[in-house]
Amino acid sequence: MRRKLAASLFGLHEKGLLPKLFHVVGFSKQALTTEGFREMVRDMIGAKERAQKEKVEQFVTYFFYQQGLFEQLEGYRKVANILGMRDNEWRVCSNKLFYIAASPQFYKTIFVNLDKSRLTEPCSPEEGWTRVLVEKPFGKDLKTAQDLDRLLGKLFQEEQIYRIDHYLGKETVQNILAFRFSNSFLQDSWNKEGIKSIHIELFEKEGIKKRGGFYDGIGALRDVGQNHILQLLALFTMENPGTFDAKAIRKKRAEVLQALKIYRPREIAKMTMRGQYKGYTKEKDVDPKSRTETYFLMKAYLGVPRWEGIPISMGSGKAMAEDRVEVRIRFRHPTPCLCPLRAEKHYRNVLHYRIQPNEGIDIMFWAKKPGPEMILEEKSFSFDYKKAFGEDSFADAYEKLLVSAFQGDQTLFVSTEEIVASWKFIDPILRAWQKNIVPLKRYKSNSAEIIKVPLPIDE
Ligand code: BG6
Repeated sequence: MRRKLAASLFGLHEKGLLPKLFHVVGFSKQALTTEGFREMVRDMIGAKERAQKEKVEQFVTYFFYQQGLFEQLEGYRKVANILGMRDNEWRVCSNKLFYIAASPQFYKTIFVNLDKSRLTEPCSPEEGWTRVLVEKPFGKDLKTAQDLDRLLGKLFQEEQIYRIDHYLGKETVQNILAFRFSNSFLQDSWNKEGIKSIHIELFEKEGIKKRGGFYDGIGALRDVGQNHILQLLALFTMENPGTFDAKAIRKKRAEVLQALKIYRPREIAKMTMRGQYKGYTKEKDVDPKSRTETYFLMKAYLGVPRWEGIPISMGSGKAMAEDRVEVRIRFRHPTPCLCPLRAEKHYRNVLHYRIQPNEGIDIMFWAKKPGPEMILEEKSFSFDYKKAFGEDSFADAYEKLLVSAFQGDQTLFVSTEEIVASWKFIDPILRAWQKNIVPLKRYKSNSAEIIKVPLPIDE
């Protein structure tokens, strides 16, 4: 709420994108009044200019508060009362979106009580839909994710369930399918014949900040690998869904995740590595003996004809030298190679797809340097999002996700098949790491030290 939701809802309010009749009921164990909650929201928005302050004043009137415990039905009933009162006032049966931004250990209890209190029961098939929106992490391994999903499946229809992976809401991530499938020059080479390797990197300069309580024991692979990075992999390698329809896209994303080759422990020792930044164990709420990874690198393969044998490297780290989320596609060199002067060097094209920051795409190509000799130099075609579409062209990912959830569009949310497939791939790696099959390397914060270390298979 503090980091993402309040600002995103306010962004939608400013743009006039919130539904006409709209309110938010905050629910937690904290003893707060509605006025106190509104004060918190004011503080979260932190408006400085007068004009904005006025908008905030209007905005906070949407907010109401109900204190309650996740474990006790009483609080849910009180929420139902508040919602009922608003419905009477508005003379409608309103649509209800339950946004669960709670610690994952409460998910089960919350789902059961939402159902028991009949809060999630729609008024009728035609009126007053209800949806639940669940933050990640969705489970902590395959078993817990499947248990959770089974429970959700019993209580709600898949159409009611919105599992968040906020990377899917990023403009640059949504562009991947448009870029791949609307540019015919890419079509023939987007396969193992045209591409030599794919590299996905999600590097952050920040350490874990004050999130030790959440992060320790979770680690980089569960925090961003099982979700954000695998979703990027899916978007870059999936088959053409034929339409921009949510069902078709989610199906194709799931299919490619299901094709990930599952490693045995022996392979994990060669194909993966993990690290922890020095000083991590001194961070707030972190176990001083913690062996949680803050960095990982691995190589994956897809067992589908299009990608058979093509390595896909995936890496992520906290406290890295720079912020960089990028996908690099290395193309094969042309054969026969017309390599004029330096016959030993092959000329390859590389596509840099910059998710953030400096959002854009660079395609590296070779050009003859003017002069008497045939010397080639690497140049780039560059596309910069902000230059092309303006500095303000990026809506926050959460704004997009909220609007999609209001509209009932599940394209940007993760399906149960995708969740299961990604855990199936991740689970054996986590287990092997727990057994210390892969040593934990310490690295200097904010340095490029760790990214220079190759995987054992490449040594
Ligand atoms: C979150 C992770 O899902 O994604 C964080 O829990 C990470 O650890 C964040 O920092 C990265 O998201 P963004 O949008 O800041 O790139």
